[in-house]
Amino acid sequence: MDVRQFIASQVEEIRNTVAGGTAISALSGGVDSATCTVLAHEALGPRLTSVFIDHGLMRAGEPRQVVDAFAGLGIKVDVVDKREEFFAALEGRTDPEDKRKAFRYAFYSAFGREVLKSKARFLIQGTIAADIIETQKGLKTQHNILEQIGIDPQEGFGFKVIEPLKEIFKHEVREVAKALGLPESITGRMPFPGPALATRIIGEVTPERVDLVRRATTIVEEAVAPFKPFQAFAVLLGDKGTGIAGGGRAFGHIIIIRSVESRDAMTAEPSPLPFEVLAGMAGRITAEIPEVTRVAYELTAKPPATIEYI
Ligand code: XMP
Repeated sequence: MDVRQFIASQVEEIRNTVAGGTAISALSGGVDSATCTVLAHEALGPRLTSVFIDHGLMRAGEPRQVVDAFAGLGIKVDVVDKREEFFAALEGRTDPEDKRKAFRYAFYSAFGREVLKSKARFLIQGTIAADIIETQKGLKTQHNILEQIGIDPQEGFGFKVIEPLKEIFKHEVREVAKALGLPESITGRMPFPGPALATRIIGEVTPERVDLVRRATTIVEEAVAPFKPFQAFAVLLGDKGTGIAGGGRAFGHIIIIRSVESRDAMTAEPSPLPFEVLAGMAGRITAEIPEVTRVAYELTAKPPATIEYI
């Protein structure tokens, strides 16, 4: 892929599609939506509004980090607090696909209202080729796939979608991001799914359960940072396991540590992390999150497992 040419042609295409109008960029903080936002900013300048929806399922400190990283690029980001709305949409849902669909609906209706409020007619988002392929194969319901599965965003939500990255894969997105001058804090960022921590919770997604998996995720990310895995995170299972806490029997939560190596997320292998690092994470997670009595390391490749847990 000729990165310079890709950038020039996408910038021109965004400009032509939006014509004299305005657009909203759906920013999640991941490298895909960040790259899209910078492309769209080059194409539209002040006619672009970048919106970050705080759905309450992000990692620790993430909304602030995203706003700061973009401020450094001269791009202002509007943070919209939709936490209550997303938790209400997910309440009582335990089926993985049901959770994904509820998230997708909450995501598009929230953005739909932002787009309509701003009178923009376009939503620019960072869907990449792997997202489309996996949703079309029926592997999972991506939060950001609509048209490809026959849902017309114009009819359902009131806007048209522009997806500048839909034909390229993650490693190519990173090249584009670097060429656009995005900082290492974004280009080197681990992939993070749109439905965020909801993909790492088996069973109901509640503020308390998100908080627990968020705290474990911070510990995992810190411990694996020197090994630079493709993706690493914590997962909260729906089952519990017996343990000992405060000298007595406790029936506590089970956390899975998942760390994988991959190029394009279509296949993946578990990271060969040193045993001391694994044991260190288990020790920190149980010490710092006393509600957790067990920690395990996931050894399954993709396929047959997927990277995320729902
Ligand atoms: P799986 O779990 O299917 O994930 O092996 C493959 C890659 O895609 C990310 N992922 C998502 N990204 N919206 C996204 O933007 C989603 O709904 C979604 N689900 C999974 C996942 O983190 C991995 O990098």
